[in-house]
Amino acid sequence: MRIGVLTGGGDCPGLNAVIRAAVRKGSKEFGHEFVGFRYGWRGPIEGITQPLDWDSVENILDQGGTILHSSRTNPYKIEGGVEAIKKNMAALGVDALIAIGGEDTLGVATKLTADGVNCVGVPKTIDNDLSGTDYTFGFDTAVNIATEAIDRLWTTADSHDRCIVVEIMGRHAGWMTLHAGIAGGANVTLIPEVAFDIEKVANFVKERKEAGKATIVAVSEGAHAQEGMVLKDGEVDAFGHVKLGGVGDWVAKEIKERAEIETRAIILGHLQRGGTPTAFDRVLATRLGLEAAAAVNEGDFGKMMALQGTNVVRIPINEGTDVLKTVPVERYADAEVFFGV
Ligand code: F6P
Repeated sequence: MRIGVLTGGGDCPGLNAVIRAAVRKGSKEFGHEFVGFRYGWRGPIEGITQPLDWDSVENILDQGGTILHSSRTNPYKIEGGVEAIKKNMAALGVDALIAIGGEDTLGVATKLTADGVNCVGVPKTIDNDLSGTDYTFGFDTAVNIATEAIDRLWTTADSHDRCIVVEIMGRHAGWMTLHAGIAGGANVTLIPEVAFDIEKVANFVKERKEAGKATIVAVSEGAHAQEGMVLKDGEVDAFGHVKLGGVGDWVAKEIKERAEIETRAIILGHLQRGGTPTAFDRVLATRLGLEAAAAVNEGDFGKMMALQGTNVVRIPINEGTDVLKTVPVERYADAEVFFGV
């Protein structure tokens, strides 16, 4: 069998570990050949490939990003996109695809499966917002980066009796902010799932200032005040997602004005996606890649590899993407316990 591999959507630490594991298991145990499609779905649409074999995946386990590069191309938004994928796969002798991606990339894999293309999916996202899997790889790395940032911001905030607002990625799910907020001991954690009261936040920061204490506010890029959402611009991608960002600056400005305290905002942004994956993410990504190779070998298409408890299992791809896995209110309550002076 000849298997195509692609990575779509935002990059994520651990992608290379999946590619390596799938290629090594698929070639060594089953004798399959592999080809890499570059730039997500753009690769099979335009026939952009790169060699993928035992040697070409050497020394990539610990590398962040993706050796296959990525894009947010949506074949269902491009005239003739699906037909082009089928045509290029046939011309290259590719029998099946391993698509590594988040809700958008895997959403396309579900549709392509229905349209007769053999696909298996591997879930990835630092946001940890895919259903059917307990964790996605990349999340642990991103949370560790954000936690280290909070640790570092603490000492400087404390030295100057300041408030520092840290804006953390995660689009519509507050997982990264919740976990980094708890792990870093943030005094206030604001997530998209629960609209916040800016007056309450400012009063809380003021009380801490009066008690001689600095404050760290962890805010998710998708969090919004009860008054509404703050957006930098209205730009949207091929999957209709609005570009987020700006809430950190807004929260810092409001705190400064309302609590009359010197406040700074830090936007962690793509720092959270770059660099080497943690050991947890390398192992999870490897296990998912191994299982994806086995699924393709068995012809078990339309399935997504998932972590459930400590087991890697296969579930229908749409079970991972139909409903976004957001933070339940009771989990947010874990963080609220620590909002105190
Ligand atoms: O979905 C992953 C993610 O990193 C989100 O946390 C963030 O909102 C988005 O991607 C940023 O996308 P881009 O790479 O297009 O800036």
